[in-house]
Amino acid sequence: MSKFKKKNTSPWPTKAAMEQVYEQHLWGGDEHDFYSGEGSHRPEIIEPYLKEVTSFLKSHQNKLSVCDLGCGDFNIGQQLLPYTSSYIAIDIVKDLISRNKIKFKNDDVEFHCLDIAKDELPKADCAIIRQVLQHLSNTEIKAITKKLSNYKYVILTEHIPIGDFIPNIDIISGQGIRLKHRSGVDILGAPFNFKVKSSKLLTEVLLGGKKGKIASYLIEL
Ligand SMILES: C[S@@+](CC[C@H](N)C(=O)[O-])C[C@H]1O[C@@H](n2cnc3c(N)ncnc32)[C@H](O)[C@@H]1O
Repeated sequence: MSKFKKKNTSPWPTKAAMEQVYEQHLWGGDEHDFYSGEGSHRPEIIEPYLKEVTSFLKSHQNKLSVCDLGCGDFNIGQQLLPYTSSYIAIDIVKDLISRNKIKFKNDDVEFHCLDIAKDELPKADCAIIRQVLQHLSNTEIKAITKKLSNYKYVILTEHIPIGDFIPNIDIISGQGIRLKHRSGVDILGAPFNFKVKSSKLLTEVLLGGKKGKIASYLIEL
């Protein structure tokens, strides 16, 4: 056997990358313990989203059960909780999940530390996946979309360019997104070709300049 060790060329695991994002506040929010970024906090971004998603949840006579895939600091999830029959929130960052369990201990919500690309996902009527896929490689997105077919509804939010763009240019999972390559995630397009009954734009917020937009879709399966 060679005396030289083979160089490890595989990308950094997603879990370690996301832990570093929170430890080093790479999405901002230095004054917060954990901060999931402006997209999870800026009123002009989150208010139209909360209004539309709340209205969708309220439109069901029997409240829907929800599974929040990549729940982050739970600033969004905590505001949707009252309109659901049960709420399971998942994130890959263990310390963040421990913090959420303490911070939201009085709320009717279960937190689990899982990797949504690798682990089995809890059952629910509706999956919420908000600004998560945009940070992940195509291999991980493919693994996740296979599991999304088990839900009746998926509410998907992605940060994408404004106007025409080449969808699904592959990236290494981590802090960044496809915007710098003038790309964004489109799970209906190749290589994912996710099959749905219908997909409807719920809301979109233009960020100005070349910063793109944050678009949310209600997908029925
Ligand atoms: C930009 S934050 C969005 C948080 C939240 N969805 C929101 O909109 O406020 C993305 C979150 O996805 C989580 N995440 C990324 N990859 C994941 C994976 N494979 N499994 C579970 N969570 C993941 C990250 O740790 C992070 O908390």
